[in-house]
Amino acid sequence: MLTRLQLANMRTIEEPTSQPTLPTTIDLKISLEYSRNFARDKSRERAKTARVSDLYNQEILEQLWTAVVFCGGGDRGGGDGGGGSIWGAAMAHSYVRRISKPQMMIVVVTSSSSIFSFCFALSLLAFFASAHILTDTEGKNSDLFPEVLREEAVARLYELGKVSDAEGYLERTFLSPASIRAGNLIREWMEDAGLRTWMDQMGNVHGRVEGMNPSADALLIGSHLDTVVDAGIFDGSLGIISAISVLKVLNITAKLQKLRRPIEVIAFSDEEGVRFQSTFLGSAAVAGVLPASALQISDKSGVTVQNALMDNSIEATEETLSQLKYDPKSVWGYVEVHIEQGPVLEGIGLPLAVVKGIAGQTRLKVTVRGSQGHAGTVPMSMRQDPMAAAAELIVLLESLCKHPKDFLSYDGQCNGFAVESLSGSLVCTVGEISSWPSASNVIPGQVTFTVDLRAIDDMGREAVFYELSDRMYQICEKRSVSCTIERKHDANAVICDTELSTQLKSATYSTLKRMEGEIQGDVPVLMSGAGHDAMAMSHLTKVGMLFVRCRGGISHSPAEHVLDEDVWAAGLAILAFLETHL
Ligand code: GLV
Ligand code: MN
Ligand code: MN
Repeated sequence: MLTRLQLANMRTIEEPTSQPTLPTTIDLKISLEYSRNFARDKSRERAKTARVSDLYNQEILEQLWTAVVFCGGGDRGGGDGGGGSIWGAAMAHSYVRRISKPQMMIVVVTSSSSIFSFCFALSLLAFFASAHILTDTEGKNSDLFPEVLREEAVARLYELGKVSDAEGYLERTFLSPASIRAGNLIREWMEDAGLRTWMDQMGNVHGRVEGMNPSADALLIGSHLDTVVDAGIFDGSLGIISAISVLKVLNITAKLQKLRRPIEVIAFSDEEGVRFQSTFLGSAAVAGVLPASALQISDKSGVTVQNALMDNSIEATEETLSQLKYDPKSVWGYVEVHIEQGPVLEGIGLPLAVVKGIAGQTRLKVTVRGSQGHAGTVPMSMRQDPMAAAAELIVLLESLCKHPKDFLSYDGQCNGFAVESLSGSLVCTVGEISSWPSASNVIPGQVTFTVDLRAIDDMGREAVFYELSDRMYQICEKRSVSCTIERKHDANAVICDTELSTQLKSATYSTLKRMEGEIQGDVPVLMSGAGHDAMAMSHLTKVGMLFVRCRGGISHSPAEHVLDEDVWAAGLAILAFLETHL
């Protein structure tokens, strides 16, 4: 395994004849050695130092857990050799740090050949000892559980990402056939982790372990199994799978039954609200804030929530719904891991953040009715075109949300603080639009579109809603079309619990230190513009959340991506958090 470079006792550095075959696991010690000869010519030395990367497979270097950087200058020319050794050490140290960020790095520098030989022999021993450790499951790396928290978790994310109602893209809406298949798969994984499982009357999948005190208040950990249309594979699934993986680790290490309180993982059936336009059907039922009237909401084909449940042999009545509500006294708190769905963590260069709070949201359905007619015969001056009206309404929405200060008066609807905070957090979207009868040679009779309004300040969001409605009605009147604006969904902003967030923060800090070596500054704390089941669960118990970095901040898109290492980091942080409940 060692190269000629090392065996020749570092008199010169030569090209390795071939790439050494090294174990592919991550725990590895490595000796990097430099000859005194380099010291005489720094530029040549730099070139040689760069060859460190050639000596070992890049992938292995990136994953070093421990590195021994070993530099010897030989005894000839005293200061010259010593200087060379130090220079070589510095170069090797910075190279290894940059590439691999090992947990521990030992740098040995000497200009005496006898010390050099002694240290060299020691480093050989260390190298072989670590190769031995690699095969030892009790080894240092085993407490990082890469097989479960990274390899298996990532494989499961991809497997779940294939469970779709659509061909060629991911779509799983409330109680669809793919949602049921996904629920069954999640249930299998929960059982594999040693949990008792069941599906409730709102299609939520639960997996629970009682620990040492079954009557103690339980920690709930969850996220959602439904997706948007043409979704990414991490939104929702990451929170479910990382929780199951962590409990599997506790099971493997015989700690599952030693938990001080019951732990329950919940895969919620509806967070996206794609099918019924009413988000959190699953988590709101568990939190006891889903009104019985929700059972009568219809999807686009006229199927009600109640019918959708009955189609899956689930009886749903006001009574069964009320039975789903958890007793707040039986719950200690709720934790959710979720992809950030924004670009901040990528910008900072860290995999995890703690969530401070979640923006409030309102969803509207706007229907504009005009006069249906022939596209070729009705003069422009005589038209009551709901499509043109809808276009004006949508542009109004955009202007209002871009510049709320220009639309809202400080005194009337909103105080100065609310307007200021709106400017930073207000976002508005029209994501869905349809027309009737939808033909190119027909002036439509009706246009319907959705509006999604979000802001951290609830008063401000309310003010935007009233200002928007007011101005929309004025535009419709001016255009002689009729407008109706229905409020389909409202969720107030949520502030995460301070104590829970502090615990998650210290679990995250220790994980980042373990994985990154050292971190500059504190664990990031972010606000969430996206909605999460934690919003509904905040009506039942205290909530805390962790965000995981995603590529380019992209979500609700098949381009959504989370690095394997970041999936692992999320698992380790939740594991560290749960260990405080042992
Ligand atoms: C859920 O992803 C939402 O924020 O709409
Ligand atoms: Mn989503
Ligand atoms: Mn989500």
